[in-house]
Amino acid sequence: MLSRYHLVILLCYCHHVLAEAPSVIIIGAGSAGIAAATRLLENSITNITILEAENRIGGRIHSATFCGEVVDLGAEYCYGEKGNIVYDLAKNYNILKSDSITLENIVYYSNGSKMDTELSRDFEETIFGYYAPNDDGDNGGTDGMSVGEVMIDRYKSMLVKKYEHNSTISEIVKEGLRYAAGNVQLLEGSYSWFDVAADNDYKELEGAWDLAFQGVGFKTILNILMKNYPNSSEKLPIDDKIFLNNKVTEIKWTGNETVTVYTSQNTYTADFVIFTPSVGVLKHQKTNLFNPNLPSWKNDAIEAFNFGSVAKIFVHFPVQWWNDSDDYFSFFWRDADLRSIDFPKGPTLDGLSWITYIQEFGKIGGNVWAAWVSGDLVPEVEKQPSNILKSGVEYVLKKFLGKVYNVTEIDQVLKTSWATNDNFKGGYVSVRRGYYRKGWSHQDKLAKPLKGESERPVLLFAGDATHPFFYSTVHGAIETGYREAERIIKIHNEAK
Ligand SMILES: Cc1cc2nc3c(=O)[nH]c(=O)nc-3n(C[C@H](O)[C@H](O)[C@H](O)COP(=O)(O)OP(=O)(O)OC[C@H]3O[C@@H](n4cnc5c(N)ncnc54)[C@H](O)[C@@H]3O)c2cc1C
Ligand SMILES: *[C@@H]1O[C@H](CO)[C@@H](O)[C@H](O)[C@H]1NC(C)=O
Ligand SMILES: *[C@@H]1O[C@H](CO)[C@@H](O)[C@H](O)[C@H]1NC(C)=O
Ligand SMILES: *[C@@H]1O[C@H](CO)[C@@H](O)[C@H](O)[C@H]1NC(C)=O
Ligand SMILES: *[C@@H]1O[C@H](CO)[C@@H](O)[C@H](O)[C@H]1NC(C)=O
Ligand SMILES: *[C@@H]1O[C@H](CO)[C@@H](O)[C@H](O)[C@H]1NC(C)=O
Ligand SMILES: *[C@@H]1O[C@H](CO)[C@@H](O)[C@H](O)[C@H]1NC(C)=O
Ligand SMILES: *[C@@H]1O[C@H](CO)[C@@H](O)[C@H](O)[C@H]1NC(C)=O
Repeated sequence: MLSRYHLVILLCYCHHVLAEAPSVIIIGAGSAGIAAATRLLENSITNITILEAENRIGGRIHSATFCGEVVDLGAEYCYGEKGNIVYDLAKNYNILKSDSITLENIVYYSNGSKMDTELSRDFEETIFGYYAPNDDGDNGGTDGMSVGEVMIDRYKSMLVKKYEHNSTISEIVKEGLRYAAGNVQLLEGSYSWFDVAADNDYKELEGAWDLAFQGVGFKTILNILMKNYPNSSEKLPIDDKIFLNNKVTEIKWTGNETVTVYTSQNTYTADFVIFTPSVGVLKHQKTNLFNPNLPSWKNDAIEAFNFGSVAKIFVHFPVQWWNDSDDYFSFFWRDADLRSIDFPKGPTLDGLSWITYIQEFGKIGGNVWAAWVSGDLVPEVEKQPSNILKSGVEYVLKKFLGKVYNVTEIDQVLKTSWATNDNFKGGYVSVRRGYYRKGWSHQDKLAKPLKGESERPVLLFAGDATHPFFYSTVHGAIETGYREAERIIKIHNEAK
């Protein structure tokens, strides 16, 4: 037990340290970690240690060069303009360009013909119309239902109903739920659309939702945060505070004023720790990471999220086969296609090859394209060698486009591995079906700092999933990094 005397000593000591130079360990150098560090540095809190398990900063922002083109293995789009910190930070540099993604006139059947314009427009409205910005975020009457269930109702009342007396189209529409699910799963990053709660607090923002950092990659946002872009001469002094290849193995904190953090290489102590790794990392590693374990209300919040993923397979063609105006293809698998697939390589689910989950194919630039895969097979797809991915993508392209285009051979492949990488364990969060309660935010619980004996917050939580309504996005992650930095700055200022 601490005596009153010791407590006074302790408080004075800490008061002094916090007023002078508080020390902060930031776990993770993703969007949230980098945002927190830059905000602290701008406020003269410089005793910062950023511990990052990977050999690079950025986390789920990962821009790389592939066959001469900048590709984004993780986050790719700035979702919306109004009130979006990513947009505000980047808008003056003329680097954001809308990909103008719409299903209209890009959906193909396996016989090489394009879905007719009106029908593709109806698919667009049914699937993406659901995600239009709406202020209250309350979908009304969907309590406890999944996005999948609500979408099926929407699909029936919009598409099935419209075409029920049109015999040529009605059969196609009947087979289109799988297509809708694929699109929804890509948006939600969930393995199934039935996993995701239909009611949620997520806020869509007005403006283009598909603004890509063309030619420079999403990582430019990190450089803007670090003041390393557009002019590196004003870069914040952050480089010597980032320790790459330094995976945190244990966070030891018994409730007093200092936390001890162990990595594979070293031991660190600090007055504050900001924890930013993903919900996937929390789900899989929380009992090893936190000593003692996190309180049960924190664990309950972690349980309330899905952490699924999507896979992107980047491919390069030495020879162009598409027309210059093409930049996106979407593949509508009909029931007969699914039955007739003859591709024995790689994983299957319920007898269907992984390649039947390739649905979108978008141009990145030059001769580089990306195939998108959603659904339960994503982790298995990530484990496949390049030659299987290459022949699978070629098979699908030839099947859907081979009659109208002379599809050429792929010579290079680059795949993502978000689900199988231990430092992520998935791609992005959504709230689990059945776990949503209005006014009872799991994100807020995940965000709530843990206070020590002195009632001062010591162990802080940032990262996209701790954002009340922008979870699963970079703009959300940045705001949470700022939020936790501000919390420390406030304590520091009050101690002065
Ligand atoms: C394929 C994909 C596409 C996406 N598309 C978009 C998009 O278009 N637009 C958008 O806004 N968002 C998108 N997102 C989501 C967005 O990327 C994330 O929400 C955001 O980057 C999360 O940032 P973060 O800092 O919260 O977490 P992270 O980026 O995951 O950062 C956490 C960091 O902690 C590190 N770490 C983990 N464990 C440890 C450990 N034990 N010790 C030390 N370090 C550790 C990780 O390596 C990582 O660098 C996408 C994500 C994926 C995967
Ligand atoms: C930073 O903080 C740590 C932990 O409190 C302390 O040991 C170290 O001396 C501090 N470094 C500087 C430069 O003040
Ligand atoms: C191609 O398939 C679609 C959908 O199955 C069908 O509507 C269309 O008539 C077919 N086109 C040709 C040329 O066979
Ligand atoms: C069926 O729907 C298609 C696509 O909207 C349309 O082109 C066609 O004229 C319709 N046929 C009938 C008989 O209404
Ligand atoms: C970068 O900033 C420095 C100092 O502010 C300035 O001297 C230099 O001209 C700038 N460089 C560019 C390319 O803008
Ligand atoms: C805090 O607790 C740890 C572990 O119980 C201990 O090693 C450390 O000395 C304590 N620090 C202070 C400042 O009391
Ligand atoms: C590609 O472009 C050529 C020449 O403009 C045109 O004839 C052809 O129809 C186009 N192919 C497709 C599938 O759009
Ligand atoms: C298709 O492309 C290949 C490779 O460029 C070429 O050898 C072949 O002649 C082309 N075939 C047709 C039918 O255009």
